[in-house]
Amino acid sequence: MSEPLPLLNQRYGDLAPQLDLSAGGDILQLLLRHRSVRSYLPDPLPEGALETIIAAAQSASTSSNLQVWSVVAVRDPARRDRLAELAGKQAHVRAAPLFLVWLADHARLRQIGADRGQTTEGLDYLEMLLVGVIDAALAAQNAVLALEAMGLASVYIGGLRNQPELVAAELGLPKGVFAVFGMCVGYEDEQHPAQVKPRLPQQAVLHLEQYSLPAQSPAVAGYDRVMAEFYAGQGMAQPDWSSTVMARVRSGRSLSGRDRMTEALRNLGFPLR
Ligand SMILES: Cc1cc2nc3c(=O)[nH]c(=O)nc-3n(C[C@H](O)[C@H](O)[C@H](O)COP(=O)(O)O)c2cc1C
Repeated sequence: MSEPLPLLNQRYGDLAPQLDLSAGGDILQLLLRHRSVRSYLPDPLPEGALETIIAAAQSASTSSNLQVWSVVAVRDPARRDRLAELAGKQAHVRAAPLFLVWLADHARLRQIGADRGQTTEGLDYLEMLLVGVIDAALAAQNAVLALEAMGLASVYIGGLRNQPELVAAELGLPKGVFAVFGMCVGYEDEQHPAQVKPRLPQQAVLHLEQYSLPAQSPAVAGYDRVMAEFYAGQGMAQPDWSSTVMARVRSGRSLSGRDRMTEALRNLGFPLR
């Protein structure tokens, strides 16, 4: 067997920056090793692992300490089956022993307002939905790092937004709570290991002092070449990254039902003023 490539080459292919990762200790290695995993063993998580992961999630920053997020932990196989269907028939939702649903949650603050007889009109604005979504995402990513440090694996499931009202009904969500994304959690089936997926060269995403769009074209072209090799190595049909992302954003129809998100959010109790 050949030696695995250094982490920076796994992350960027031959367009890797020359960097010394040693200053960051184990945490930098952990960050650069991240992989979304879609093949799981049925083994459950050890006692206390869920609560440890949530402690890490709750340690993320949260806008104004509002903590407008929550999470539903789903272990019941029948419920995971139904959620797998709702998320576009994603088999890994069925396979992983734990499914976490990360929520933007205004219900708690609405309830405090109702209990005190005070208005919560500020929650009616789009800004406050963004706060909930940002809070949920920061918490979830802390959870990913924690579970990876514990030898577990995960994959986010944005497919859960394909049918938001049905997901809300399945999870018993009250008005003002929106499932931002799901997350499969479990032990990777090492018979089908996931690879580190290369990212855009830093020249495309890192701008010094002022933003530049023209500077990105050569970086994107280089990345298309790196990803063409990656896809071929995975036996995947995509010719390159640009073609893949264009298929995703071509039209409203290519959003798998999420083109009606404004309507769905209003149905779920977010006025979006
Ligand atoms: C918010 C979000 C939603 C995602 N939704 C899905 C999904 O529904 N199904 C899936 O298999 N992967 C999903 N992913 C995983 C991405 O496809 C993955 O992160 C990306 O291809 C990069 O690969 P990596 O995480 O292995 O580096 C999602 C990722 C994010 C951040």
